[in-house]
Amino acid sequence: MEEAGKGRERVVEVEDLSATTKDAAVVSTKPAKRHPLVLWIAILGLIMLVGMYIFSLSLKQNGMLFGLLQTNMIEKEREKPCHDPRIPDTEIPYVHYPTPNTYDREECACTEVRFFAILSMQRSGSGWVETLLNSHPNISSNGEIFSVKPRRSNITEITKTLDKLYNLDWYSSAAKNECTAAVGLKWMLNQGLMKHHQEIVKYFNQRGVSAIFLLRRNLLQRYVSILANAHDSAMKQLNGTHKAHVHSKQEAEILAQYKPTIDKKTLITELKRSDKLAADALMNFKNTRHIVLYYEDVVKNRTKLMDVLDFLRLPKRKLSSRHVKIHTKRLRDHIDNWADVSNALTGTRFESFLNGRSRR
Ligand SMILES: *[C@@H]1O[C@H](CO)[C@@H](O)[C@H](O)[C@H]1NC(C)=O
Ligand SMILES: *[C@@H]1O[C@H](CO)[C@@H](O)[C@H](O)[C@H]1NC(C)=O
Ligand SMILES: *[C@@H]1O[C@H](CO)[C@@H](O)[C@H](O)[C@H]1NC(C)=O
Ligand SMILES: *[C@@H]1O[C@H](CO)[C@@H](O)[C@H](O)[C@H]1NC(C)=O
Repeated sequence: MEEAGKGRERVVEVEDLSATTKDAAVVSTKPAKRHPLVLWIAILGLIMLVGMYIFSLSLKQNGMLFGLLQTNMIEKEREKPCHDPRIPDTEIPYVHYPTPNTYDREECACTEVRFFAILSMQRSGSGWVETLLNSHPNISSNGEIFSVKPRRSNITEITKTLDKLYNLDWYSSAAKNECTAAVGLKWMLNQGLMKHHQEIVKYFNQRGVSAIFLLRRNLLQRYVSILANAHDSAMKQLNGTHKAHVHSKQEAEILAQYKPTIDKKTLITELKRSDKLAADALMNFKNTRHIVLYYEDVVKNRTKLMDVLDFLRLPKRKLSSRHVKIHTKRLRDHIDNWADVSNALTGTRFESFLNGRSRR
């Protein structure tokens, strides 16, 4: 937007310039009749150059523009029989009618499909939110597809994987009997997302993928969850199996009994690192269509998820999950060396994390 504005100013400048040079030409000489012609050609050339410059700027900035045109052309043919005149023009880039290679969508062929990606960090409630979304009969969120390393080894592999997913050719337990109206995945920032962010933003904009950020406000609580999860991964406290998420209060209580001792020397560095990662992610993806959700807000107010359904242009309905929250007490009751942690954070910008308390 700003760039386009600058471009416009430039054009004005050029016009002014041409006006003054024209005046100069008229005033200064009568004999040289060839002058105006040369001038005009020069001016024309200049205008063309400026035009090309502006065009290249808009391409660079809105890689979207071109990409969307392309995608639109590919999907045009399919759109025609399905076209719904009620869809506003601004929505068209985000409305898709995929034709899977592996089966026929049949009666769902003209059901509009939205593409999304839940962008999050480990232990930020994305598992819980994904199960809530998947309880909607028309939403299919396919889990952490990119936790499998080869799928994210380079941008070619990433694109291939996403193409398959958004073409509705991906098989997972998220598959629905109903017509899919929104398809997506859960993608952790450290699963190639930040490493290849430029290409991925381009892909999102070209294919009309909407990003759903799910972040955590209290990074100390998140850190406790990471340490507790790592502990269970090693100790396998529930009958010898490790569980990242639990479905019963009893299981939650067993996992919450473990109180990590936090290294007070590295704590600040750790908090700064995850704070920066989240900030960088928001920065890198700011030019995509996106919504930002905070775990704590959803815990306090489930209705926040209706904003997500709105964002995906899906009819609202009640969502449910069997996940049970693990850490439900005051934060001080979940950390072994609370005094150390409290001392380390008091007076820093992370002090407010100490008051963390959450219920669901
Ligand atoms: C991308 O990774 C895949 C699998 O790891 C590999 O086979 C392929 O050659 C790589 N492609 C490029 C362009 O690096
Ligand atoms: C959800 O699926 C049903 C049944 O397959 C379909 O009739 C309905 O149109 C779908 N809803 C949306 C919003 O696409
Ligand atoms: C462990 O296994 C026993 C017997 O199979 C079962 O009754 C109990 O609920 C399990 N406990 C947990 C924490 O999963
Ligand atoms: C809960 O979230 C919804 C959707 O964002 C909002 O409209 C509503 O005001 C919130 N309720 C409370 C009590 O904050």
